[in-house]
Amino acid sequence: MSDQPDQTTTTATTATTADVFDAVFSAYERSPRVRELFRADFDPSLPPEVELFSFTPSDALRLIALALDVAAGDTLVDLACGRGGPGMWVARETGARLVGVDVSPVAVAQAQRRAADFGLSGRAEFRVGAFAETAEILRPAMADGVMCVDALHFAPDPLAAARDVARILRPGRTFALTTWEGPRNDAGYPAELAGTLVAAGFVDVNVEEHPEWDERRRALYVAALELEPGDDTALANLQREASVALPQMAEQRRLLITARSGSRTGRNSAR
Ligand SMILES: C[S@@+](CC[C@H](N)C(=O)[O-])C[C@H]1O[C@@H](n2cnc3c(N)ncnc32)[C@H](O)[C@@H]1O
Repeated sequence: MSDQPDQTTTTATTATTADVFDAVFSAYERSPRVRELFRADFDPSLPPEVELFSFTPSDALRLIALALDVAAGDTLVDLACGRGGPGMWVARETGARLVGVDVSPVAVAQAQRRAADFGLSGRAEFRVGAFAETAEILRPAMADGVMCVDALHFAPDPLAAARDVARILRPGRTFALTTWEGPRNDAGYPAELAGTLVAAGFVDVNVEEHPEWDERRRALYVAALELEPGDDTALANLQREASVALPQMAEQRRLLITARSGSRTGRNSAR
């Protein structure tokens, strides 16, 4: 079918992406300086165990939790969860059980290890998986809420990824994501995600702009560029990102998007 991604290409891309993020997460864990930058220069109000690897301050996480409206007994899926900080923060606040999924085995192992830091041992589990390719690890309609923090723009096929989210969400429940629209150094952010979500079967799509979150990102980048990286790979990575991103930020829209799963859950829902 023409709307199915080429499986060979997708698998190769997924393996490369996993290798890249494995290296990034290994470096991040070895760098107390970068973790401290995210804590002190991005949002000191977040509990230290969150150890952000995204640009979501505490008010972003609160808005995500509010939109998801999950509670004890519910299952929350955090797609592209990375080391799990935002998802575990939301799970702890709401009482929901957490299933995190990420393409990077290193990130998944780190998240699993960190669950105890949140008091979530036994209530949070993490699995290796890629956008649009979760059929073998996530059952249809298993999730009472799905979140995706600063990651959907990495999906090789955003529509296929959104259809997969619709597949795993119970009808009427919420998908909450943060991302950007506008230019980006490599692949480019999606020009317009709301239409993609509607095409995937979502309803009540709401797009909120939060430029104040990106003011914190700007401050973090500026602080990072003032440091001497030495052999700190994570800091060197962050500085490279900062040099590319700072000139582009004025043209990027910082977004929180929420959408409700309709009763019709996209054309691939029967897979
Ligand atoms: C900026 S990080 C955000 C991680 C996490 N959501 C957080 O807020 O800490 C982007 C994440 O997307 C994941 N990712 C990239 N491409 C992916 C794919 N095709 N499928 C699943 N995860 C992917 C990376 O491994 C990484 O963990």
